[in-house]
Amino acid sequence: MAVMDYATLFEAIVDAVIVIDEHGEILDVNQGCLVMFGYKKADVIGQNVTMLMEADQAALHDGYIRSFLTTRNPKIIGQGREVRAVQAQGRAFLARLTVAEAQYAGVHQFVGILQDLSKQHEAEAQANEAMLKLQQLDRSTTVAELGSALAHELNQPLTALTLYLKSAQRYLGDSEHDEALRGLFDKAAIEGRRAADIIKRIRSMIEQREIETRPVRVSGLMQDVVRFMKSVLKDPDTRIVLQHSSDDVFVDVDPIQLSQVLTNLIKNAAEAVGTREGKATIQLSWQRDPAQGDIVVLVDDDGPGFTEDILAEVFKSFRTTKAGGLGIGLSLSKRFIEQMNGSMTASNDSALGGARVQLRLPLAESIP
Ligand SMILES: Nc1ncnc2c1ncn2[C@@H]1O[C@H](COP(=O)(O)OP(=O)(O)OP(=O)(O)O)[C@@H](O)[C@H]1O
Ligand SMILES: [Mg+2]
Repeated sequence: MAVMDYATLFEAIVDAVIVIDEHGEILDVNQGCLVMFGYKKADVIGQNVTMLMEADQAALHDGYIRSFLTTRNPKIIGQGREVRAVQAQGRAFLARLTVAEAQYAGVHQFVGILQDLSKQHEAEAQANEAMLKLQQLDRSTTVAELGSALAHELNQPLTALTLYLKSAQRYLGDSEHDEALRGLFDKAAIEGRRAADIIKRIRSMIEQREIETRPVRVSGLMQDVVRFMKSVLKDPDTRIVLQHSSDDVFVDVDPIQLSQVLTNLIKNAAEAVGTREGKATIQLSWQRDPAQGDIVVLVDDDGPGFTEDILAEVFKSFRTTKAGGLGIGLSLSKRFIEQMNGSMTASNDSALGGARVQLRLPLAESIP
């Protein structure tokens, strides 16, 4: 089979290929270069290659070639580096430059290959931005969750306090002394009610946040969450595995809230497996349950599992075994899931030997 000649190959390369002499003068460029920079061939042939660079790099370029020719010390020859290139219209972009040297017809020539990195950087920037948003969201919802859980927990003791004060008044007689006590009890009860009112208002304000459910593809959401958590955890000893299911299913959920819940569960699992030595695995999986007509999502780990004490009241707020823990992650996650008409259970029945948290989520009726 006849192979294409080098001239055809030269033109077929999508990266920019630039051939220069030892003074930096452009001898030839391929079509890829003209497209990348927006020039015509006649604009560049015979010009100095520095016309394709940003001013600060251009200033150094002649020096690079001279120092290579005298010292033979290859600062860049043979190894790539990132440079800022400039298009005909003045737009600067990031590119990866690799240079090769050749002797041709008795003179030095250099071949530079430039690969446009702007698309890659754009994609990276977008991914980072999405991560940052998720993290910020994580922090702001934690504050809201904390407020909500606090309000919930304080409400009960305050109501009890007011009731005790009222019942205590019944034991008071008619003496002047008791009359004075009655007045003080009344005042205390009024203050207690005021505090309960404030808390009730805080709760209704925080909990006004509407849950907006819509059909969401389970695989996509789980992939996003796992990618996010991998970037956050960065522990080389902990693997997060996503068990792909053949069921390509949609659930009817609030995707932000569900991501939040899964993030919480993976964080818990990572903290649990982090308490012991060695490699650890956290596994996410999902499956359609035809009997119930819903989707089961499992978060398993191979950590120590829930302690007996915790397991007995696992979804109660402020129950924690962690020094810096608040103990609200699981209780709020359960509330979010129930608001989406799902359910949540916790056990030590993990397929991996540690803890297992199971979510049941409603199957979406219509698929977008
Ligand atoms: N995967 C797990 N393995 C073992 N124990 C767990 C696991 N997940 C949760 N727990 C136990 O349940 C407790 C409550 O978890 P929860 O997420 O509600 O609160 P927390 O993680 O302690 O604090 P935070 O409010 O910051 O999340 C934890 O303190 C821990 O003892
Ligand atoms: Mg937690």
